[in-house]
Amino acid sequence: QATLHELATAQGKYFGSATDNPELPDAAYAAVLGSEFGQITPGNSMKWDTTEPAQGQFNFAKGDAITDFAQQHGQTVRGHTLVWHSQLPGWVGALPPAQVEAAMTNHVTEEATHYRGAVSAWDVVNEPFNEDGTFRTSPFYTAMGSDYIAKALRAAHAADPEAKLYVNDYNIEGLGAKSDAMYALVSELLAEGVPLDGVGMQAHLAVQYGFPYQMQANMQRFADLGLDVAVTELDVRMQLPADSAKTATQSSYYRQVTEACLAVERCVGITVWDYTDKYSWVPSTFPGQGAANLYDENLLPKPAYSAVRTALGGD
Ligand code: G3I
Repeated sequence: QATLHELATAQGKYFGSATDNPELPDAAYAAVLGSEFGQITPGNSMKWDTTEPAQGQFNFAKGDAITDFAQQHGQTVRGHTLVWHSQLPGWVGALPPAQVEAAMTNHVTEEATHYRGAVSAWDVVNEPFNEDGTFRTSPFYTAMGSDYIAKALRAAHAADPEAKLYVNDYNIEGLGAKSDAMYALVSELLAEGVPLDGVGMQAHLAVQYGFPYQMQANMQRFADLGLDVAVTELDVRMQLPADSAKTATQSSYYRQVTEACLAVERCVGITVWDYTDKYSWVPSTFPGQGAANLYDENLLPKPAYSAVRTALGGD
């Protein structure tokens, strides 16, 4: 039976999963990760608090374990993430604003240089927007205004000219104020000649919130700018306990995301935000919610897995 990645590859896309260092010693987990998926994204190990916990002191050991796994299994790696307001070590926010740009440029340069050749795409800037489409406050925004985004992209491109560079956010999957803001931002970046290859749509969906409004049309408008689109962190949570209705809605959401990506030529692939409920971020962040992933806690495929397979043209 073809894997999800093989099915996706036949359609010109990849199919990937997030993972994290504490999960890799789980042999049953690693076996599926290494076989079913053609791309992996480190859930935490390339974030600033891990890679530069003190200024100028870089530690890439955890991220290297992820790129090693990928090399051993013939997978590509999405680097996640260079500039983000969260999981940011305290020293960055404590800098005088006049020193933030140099610190950011150095961080981007060191990390993107270290992973040159091992990371094929970077979430250079993660989650720059508030829900209403205004720019989110962060040490970077405070110091540089929205120019921090162009500066980060230019630094990443200088360090690794081959990597595909993305801006990534959540709740931009459908048409709406937040995706309009992303559309305006990337249009302006392209007009200014800033190196930018794509937009990442995280796609942390929830059964109780409905499916994003016109996801395919939204993807297409970014593609029409000449950008790639990637679904970078797909999962579909629900209020527990799961029942057959919620499970059916979840399967339909996974199917619809897959169909939207298949329908848009510039949608390059889909990454699930880990493939199993065993290692989901959801229950600790949204108490009472979960069951968000393609496989259950015993690593058995759920109906959503079959729905994705079918959408990808599998049996
Ligand atoms: O490493 C410490 C460990 O030492 C400590 O014992 C433990 C106790 O809580 O915490 C561990 O850190 C946790 C870390 O994951 C590593 O497991 C943090 O508390 C926890 O908050 C952190 O959660 C991560 C979250 O980002 C933080 O924002 C999730 O694993 C990760 O999946 C999630 O991923 C984000 C994407 O980066 C961006 N998009 C949204 C997505 C989901 O929130």
